[in-house]
Amino acid sequence: MDMNKKSIGIIVGSLRSGSYSKKVAFYVTSLLEEKFSVKILDIGNLVIYNEDLDKDSDAPQEWLGFRQEVKALDAVLFITPEYNRSIPAVLKNALDVASRPKTDNAWNHKPGAVISISPGAIGGFGANHHLRQTAACLNIFMMEQPEAYVGGIAGAFDENDVLNESVQGFLHIFIDSFADWINIF
Ligand code: FNR
Repeated sequence: MDMNKKSIGIIVGSLRSGSYSKKVAFYVTSLLEEKFSVKILDIGNLVIYNEDLDKDSDAPQEWLGFRQEVKALDAVLFITPEYNRSIPAVLKNALDVASRPKTDNAWNHKPGAVISISPGAIGGFGANHHLRQTAACLNIFMMEQPEAYVGGIAGAFDENDVLNESVQGFLHIFIDSFADWINIF
């Protein structure tokens, strides 16, 4: 981590190895790295949230570590597919885990943004807006514009995983706006 740069945590809502969301995360990381410290956070190791496990310091180590990791960030960027018109459970779980204890919500006051992706035409609109609903509850300051619903994602990468110019161009605009948004805070 470069301590002179603000830090951005990227949270990807898919665990699969060939994930398009991950590929988009790698691409936007390359755009953000000049100005920010960027890290893709691991959310696949967080056991499903259960209040019974969240007593005193007995909570799972992975939860405690993830809460500290989120707290240390200056901003968060979510890149997610849509599952059944909402966000994948793994992403909701990560949001829930770092939201507790209630008096110490790790997401509080962080500027954020969301990119939803889909092979379909609607671009993960349902996931994007369900995430915004939870973000409002968690006091994440979500960038409103531009919105990023990246549809047709399966055809957007070539055989070398290079994104087509049209999506690249859009993501440049989005990331420049996000950089400006973060620097307001
Ligand atoms: C999907 N998919 C999907 N796509 C979409 O646009 N709207 C949806 O509601 C759903 N629902 C859904 C549910 C479940 C359980 C799965 C596994 C998939 C398809 C999804 O967009 C596609 O698999 C993406 O490629 C997943 O993102 P990653 O893994 O490529 O990042």
